[in-house]
Amino acid sequence: MKILMVCLGNICRSPLAHGLLLQKVKDLDLNWEVDSAGTSNYHVGDLPDRRSIDIARKNNLDITYQRGRQFTKEDFQRFDEIFVMDSSNYQNVLRLAENDEEREKVKLILNESFPGENRAVPDPYYGGNQGFENVYKMLDEATNKIIERLR
Ligand code: 4NP
Repeated sequence: MKILMVCLGNICRSPLAHGLLLQKVKDLDLNWEVDSAGTSNYHVGDLPDRRSIDIARKNNLDITYQRGRQFTKEDFQRFDEIFVMDSSNYQNVLRLAENDEEREKVKLILNESFPGENRAVPDPYYGGNQGFENVYKMLDEATNKIIERLR
């Protein structure tokens, strides 16, 4: 499987989803590719947000190998499933899709944990550390579900 995690900035939410899933895939010896991207170009080349690095590190997960990049149309070809964090990401990604095959690859990540509920992973950028703890927990559970469904 080739999995892409997408949010707005690619510095807060999707780097956590990317780091969590990649670690689990490695622990299980699965031959999967995992990456992340942002719909915006605001943080291209940047490290993840300090608060994401810190909550990951508290959970023994290093995400400092990651750098921000922007989602491109080519990602529809490169990846089997594209997980977005909220409905705004969903609309921004779908806008670049050219056919149903591409559109069907795009999914709200929390529908893995709460099927059909279309819940959002809240954008923690303008909040404090509690937001990041909450996001980490949600993404830890959702990435477990992704592995259960696709392995
Ligand atoms: P993310 O959070 O989409 O989870 O990476 C954000 C990061 C940066 C900005 C917005 C959201 N920003 O406006 O710069």
